Amino acid sequence: MNAIDKISATDRYARCVATSKRVRWDIDADVIRGRRFDTAHKFLPDGLSLADAFTSLSPEEKRFVSQIQGRTYANIFGLVERFINAKVLELSHDHWFGDQVALEALVRFSDEELKHQALFRRIDAMVGEVLPPGYRFDIDPNGVAHAVLGKSTWAVLALTLDIELFTQLHYRQSIDPDKDLSELFKDVFLYHWREESQHAILDELEWVRHDAELTAEQRDRAVDEFIELVAAVDGILQAQAKADAAYFSSACGRAIGAAEAQAIGAAFLKAYRWQYIHSGAQHPHFGKVLSSLITEKQGERIQSALATLQ
Ligand SMILES: [Fe+2]
Ligand SMILES: [Fe+2]
Repeated sequence: MNAIDKISATDRYARCVATSKRVRWDIDADVIRGRRFDTAHKFLPDGLSLADAFTSLSPEEKRFVSQIQGRTYANIFGLVERFINAKVLELSHDHWFGDQVALEALVRFSDEELKHQALFRRIDAMVGEVLPPGYRFDIDPNGVAHAVLGKSTWAVLALTLDIELFTQLHYRQSIDPDKDLSELFKDVFLYHWREESQHAILDELEWVRHDAELTAEQRDRAVDEFIELVAAVDGILQAQAKADAAYFSSACGRAIGAAEAQAIGAAFLKAYRWQYIHSGAQHPHFGKVLSSLITEKQGERIQSALATLQ
């Protein structure tokens, strides 16, 4: 790392700290503000829920799908933020006796991620108050975190940057003018994105810093581990798409035949793969950072693995 890179990295950590202080929000005072969810509204915008993929459903049923997906959104974020926070705390070790600004940036990152998990637990409970009983999310965040953290730091940071960049895209989707979209859920996207923007910058700084310490062989192995992590995420999405499709069928108020049930399950999976894998993998900045660290052949390996998840 030359002197100029070093100055700009320090400066970027400092900017993250300053922005984190400026945008800091409170779950009740800023996001929830005494409001409740209303089932007259969609919780996720059509561009995320992929409403058009649910071809056999009425507009009201598509709205119910967006509400189920909104609850799952809260649960998936609660899940990924468990391992992201643990990795950030681990990485902070590298800065304990070094750059104290970088350390402060990571401590704030961790604190925000703990707050986000608390927010998403609240959202899950609040959605549970207004939707019919029977919803299930049976994936254990600690079990997932142990499995993810068993992979190399390089692979975990690749997945983390992917996730934290797609929250930006999700926010942009949610601000599209749609009068049926829940104002409360819009605020969840808005406030989450405000703090995630700094996280994505810090992921990149930490990833590039860590990458510089790896040998070519270690990095090549890490590329495979990143592919394994994406496959593990897909396994979670497949299980939840199945659970959410079953919940929809049991609570939608009409009989759903086997063929339609299968189509609904496929549409849930398509939406979840879009939300949690492809919207990040296709993010231009993710592609730019990733390709700056890997060879063309390694990039092709990643692309062909992603192509199997359509
Ligand atoms: Fe977060
Ligand atoms: Fe984050």
